[in-house]
Amino acid sequence: MAEIGKDILKAKAFLEKDELVAIPTETVYGLAANALNPIAVAKIFEAKERPTFDPLIVHTHSLHEVYKFVTNIHPALLKLAEAFWPGPLTLLLPKKEIIPSLVTSGLDRVGVRVPNHSLTLDLLSQLNFPLAAPSANPFGYISPTTAMHVEKQLGTKIPYILDGGSCEVGLESTIVGEENGEIIIYRLGGLSVDEIETIVGKVSVQLNQSSNPKSPGQLKSHYAPKKPVYIGNLNESQKQYSDQKIGAIVFGIDIKLSESILIKNLSSTKNYQEASANLFSFLRELDEADVDVIISEFLPETGLGLAINDRLRRASAL
Ligand code: TXA
Ligand code: MG
Repeated sequence: MAEIGKDILKAKAFLEKDELVAIPTETVYGLAANALNPIAVAKIFEAKERPTFDPLIVHTHSLHEVYKFVTNIHPALLKLAEAFWPGPLTLLLPKKEIIPSLVTSGLDRVGVRVPNHSLTLDLLSQLNFPLAAPSANPFGYISPTTAMHVEKQLGTKIPYILDGGSCEVGLESTIVGEENGEIIIYRLGGLSVDEIETIVGKVSVQLNQSSNPKSPGQLKSHYAPKKPVYIGNLNESQKQYSDQKIGAIVFGIDIKLSESILIKNLSSTKNYQEASANLFSFLRELDEADVDVIISEFLPETGLGLAINDRLRRASAL
């Protein structure tokens, strides 16, 4: 069992001893270690059972700090950093030597982000190194949005979980980089494409890089519960799986489903932010509930609906 608390000094002490600490962010909980020390970073891969071809995001407390770790920031990406940090935005930037290649899986770019959570920003500003932190879940499973989610899955493997409550955004950060002057989104996330385009104009979205992804958040099956997830028309799905116990994730209250179905409503007012914040918790709850299958339907492809649909698609990929 990990200790769960709000003690920044305790978290700091563990991290300074190259131990792992789970940290809250506005997106999901991270599993953090000293990003500048490969021995500490290796512990992350071990605890998560994560393949080392999957690079880690480096977290720091300010844009100013980022210059210690990267050789330059493309002007358009700099505008994004200024507009959205601290926030759910990760930038892929050309790394300096000081970032161990284990962190980037040997790639030339490092993913960097300033998370928007007061406890973690406090912690980061008291440390003299940045924190490498993937989502604090076993590889491939749903990302954690509460301290208890982390405890249930990684509690035996880490000494301390810094408890910052429920994550407000609930979807991982949007990952953005630049190639040959073009701004590219590699992973949809808590910052919408529209918000990004208001700052830098039209961007291209490159998800699913097949078998050798530049970003394993792009793997077809990821963020997945253990139970089968079927996405499609809810009325048809409830008929198709009527011989099994069904859990349903719905959006809004205009859907009538059989009373035998365990229903989780992402947002009765169809608020996308509320839906994002609920999605991973609901997938977990249904995974743990007495149901055999999980059914859901895509949301309208607008704003955060795009990222929610991306996670639903991956959760359903078998
Ligand atoms: O919101 C988030 O981004 C959360 C919180 C904890 O910050 N972190 C997170 O990390 O989702 P993780 O490791 O679960 O997913 C990060 C994604 C991975 O798919 C990884 O491959 C990609 O970011 N990534 C990280 N560094 C990269 C790099 N140098 N080049 C390409 N992709 C990179
Ligand atoms: Mg992850």
